[in-house]
Amino acid sequence: MTIAPVQRTASLGSSTWTDTRLIMALEEVVEQELNRHLKVAKDWMPHEFVPWSQGRDFDGVLGGEAWSLEQSQVTPLGRVALVVNLLTEDNLPSYHHEIATMFGREGAWGTWVHRWTAEEGRHGIAIRDFLLATRAVDPNELERARMSHMSEGFESDNAHSMLHSVAYVAFQELATRISHRNTGHFAGDPLCDQLLAKIANDENLHMVFYRNLLKAALEIAPDQAMRAVSDVVTQFRMPGHGIPGFERAAAQIAIGGVYNLRIHHDDVLQPVLRHLKVMEIGGLGPEGLQAQQELGVFLDGLDAMATKFDERQAALLARRAAREAAK
Ligand SMILES: [Fe+2]
Ligand SMILES: [Fe+2]
Repeated sequence: MTIAPVQRTASLGSSTWTDTRLIMALEEVVEQELNRHLKVAKDWMPHEFVPWSQGRDFDGVLGGEAWSLEQSQVTPLGRVALVVNLLTEDNLPSYHHEIATMFGREGAWGTWVHRWTAEEGRHGIAIRDFLLATRAVDPNELERARMSHMSEGFESDNAHSMLHSVAYVAFQELATRISHRNTGHFAGDPLCDQLLAKIANDENLHMVFYRNLLKAALEIAPDQAMRAVSDVVTQFRMPGHGIPGFERAAAQIAIGGVYNLRIHHDDVLQPVLRHLKVMEIGGLGPEGLQAQQELGVFLDGLDAMATKFDERQAALLARRAAREAAK
């Protein structure tokens, strides 16, 4: 790396990286990671995962059969999670806008931004085709929710900082992977599980790309990157938080074990933080050290909250099981 940070205040002796300089300094890493990604990402065809033979005309223009609940074997929990996952994927134009604005559309960054967008586009196509062919969800409700959600757009919480943006996507891609994977497990349809496993695999590769980029950022600008990681982890929210009825859906998804505090702490935050050895990074300046300490305190608190959630979840599930047994 030959690009030097900008001296912010000579009197303090500290230096700070601007977003523009960081983007230039990380271009080499982006190129390496892009090439690695293109080698390991296996192309796949979304249409092969959709059981088209189960499909038939809907009512309306073609005068087919109206949708009704019993037409699909997907579980109620699976239905809720599938809709949240699909609407999250649907907002891709806004995500593309946010990352293209932050990372640019030139050079290796631009190639990555476009390639990532194309891969993400496949996810929405595949899930929607699957849900409509198998009649897993109400197509009218789904379309109204999509219109409403996309019309709101998506604004990144991290548009002010390149390092915050990289840190966010490293965790968010893993969160999305886990969410798709667990939705598949609980969907009650092996074909749905198979499709979501395929999508989850893509999300994992996206996580690896951004995680490796974050690793390089922690080496180049440790104090600023540590601040970014700490801020992102302590203020994390899922990209689909603006979906109509998100709070209610998120509660069902949490109790059902698709995505909750315990999963967020154990399967999303900790694997990335451990891999990057974030809590063990030494030689930080006062700002980096402060951020690292804040992160440690937050993680302890989150773990304790997750334990409380585990207990509430276990009690609720036990009550439900007892009610079922009494019927
Ligand atoms: Fe995706
Ligand atoms: Fe992704």
